[in-house]
Amino acid sequence: MKFTVKNEKPASVKSGCVVLGVFEKRKLSDAAARFDKTTRGLLTKLLHDGEMDGSCGQTLLVHYPRGAACERVLLVGCGKPRAFNDRNYSKAVASAAQAVNTSGATDAVSFLAELDVTNRDVYWKARTLIEGTRAAVFTADELKSKKTRAQRPLRRLGINVTAGDRKVAHQAITDGEAIAAGVELARSLGNLPGNICTPSYLADQARELGKRSDRLKVSVMDEAGMKKLGMGSLLSVARGSREPARLISMEYNGGASDAKPVVLVGKGVTFDSGGISIKPGAAMDEMKFDMCGAASVLGTMEACVAMQLPLNVVGVIPATENLPDGNASKPGDIVTSMSGQTIEVLNTDAEGRLILCDALTYCEKFKPAVVIDIATLTGACVIALGAHAAGLLSNNDVLAEALLAAGETAGDRAWRMPLWDDYQPQLDSNFADMANIGGREAGTITAACFLSRFTGNYDWAHLDIAGVAWKGGKEKGATGRPVALLTQYLLDRCAG
Ligand code: BES
Ligand code: MN
Ligand code: ZN
Repeated sequence: MKFTVKNEKPASVKSGCVVLGVFEKRKLSDAAARFDKTTRGLLTKLLHDGEMDGSCGQTLLVHYPRGAACERVLLVGCGKPRAFNDRNYSKAVASAAQAVNTSGATDAVSFLAELDVTNRDVYWKARTLIEGTRAAVFTADELKSKKTRAQRPLRRLGINVTAGDRKVAHQAITDGEAIAAGVELARSLGNLPGNICTPSYLADQARELGKRSDRLKVSVMDEAGMKKLGMGSLLSVARGSREPARLISMEYNGGASDAKPVVLVGKGVTFDSGGISIKPGAAMDEMKFDMCGAASVLGTMEACVAMQLPLNVVGVIPATENLPDGNASKPGDIVTSMSGQTIEVLNTDAEGRLILCDALTYCEKFKPAVVIDIATLTGACVIALGAHAAGLLSNNDVLAEALLAAGETAGDRAWRMPLWDDYQPQLDSNFADMANIGGREAGTITAACFLSRFTGNYDWAHLDIAGVAWKGGKEKGATGRPVALLTQYLLDRCAG
């Protein structure tokens, strides 16, 4: 979809569809009121007749509005004007996108970015309009013979702003398109089934990304390379699989050559059956999403490349399957990690931390400014925070605050949990330096405690995205989270 900046009068826009906001109850936004005036009270009459009351997310499509230059006008409910916050704005944007996309109009001009949103500027409103529109019309029909996308989809969307706001709106388009593309990559990869999206497939995707930019250097390590480095923990997870494991590194050089990089580490378990500690059958298909951390790293790297961010970023992805097999790790097995610490594998289903710990030790070679790992790590996080916030745990308050703030801005929130030493004894083992599980209580925290034993040499944050990375049920599919949070964090680092 092509986005452009517009500065026009609502009723004189020549377009397939003009998108206007209406507040509760039956209150026209400024642009809608101007449109209403030129069309001699058309909108007032519609509202008066009870066609819509402006509650948030409502839409009303009107064809050939008399007196206006457009073919259609779409009214979008925005809720109470005083409560027009991030959440309601995003909701209005998504409803509008879906309605326009299925209206038959192939081009449209939206006046939504002109509305007042509590504490948000035009840049934010325009960028959210772009990201929200692209997210709303995203389809996962690559493997369907009959495509589910709209017959005549929206191809061009104009974003109307005042003359003085044109410049920031252009910047918002550049950034918004980059982030949307990153989110879409993460969603598409996440949705792919385990038989297609294998560790080698993820490596190929990284190489493809590398081909698109001189600034991105991609390297892929095979199991022999991991063995040489002593990654016994990562390799122990791969033992049960016929698909060879991969350790993918993507180095984006947009900053000074001596500037320390932000390192992003994404869990890339392309299918998690649990291994010998096998999972129950119900909804096990959803464990193809266990590589969504990896997908978010790929998506964020893509966004960095597109925005040509002036900093250095490294993406690291340990990728493997977790399957049961005669050769697979067994409960009670003890493995030696790259750090030299030994781990008693009490549950082979706690495999994420086993692959991440070696990747986190490996990261030290990049002399990182900070390391952020992203992982669908614990079912406990789904219970604690549901689908709305990622779990955030960190050994550094400044980093944690920056990530929380980035999540607020990007509409991709995280919530911090404690990483107190009080929880560490839950990982005690009678036979090794630590166990890989810490019991039923505080599962998200003890998983992070495990990782913290490998991240002592740098500032580190962990995002547990088990609850936010995908949706189940009828809406089943990857969300692309937390690409927006991560990209915002990187943008904020460039600005500050
Ligand atoms: N990939 C899962 C976590 C998960 C489970 C994410 C359900 C989303 C939904 C992870 O590898 C796992 O199996 N974790 C175990 C850890 C336990 C054995 C300590 C869990 O959460 O049950
Ligand atoms: Mn598991
Ligand atoms: Zn897993």
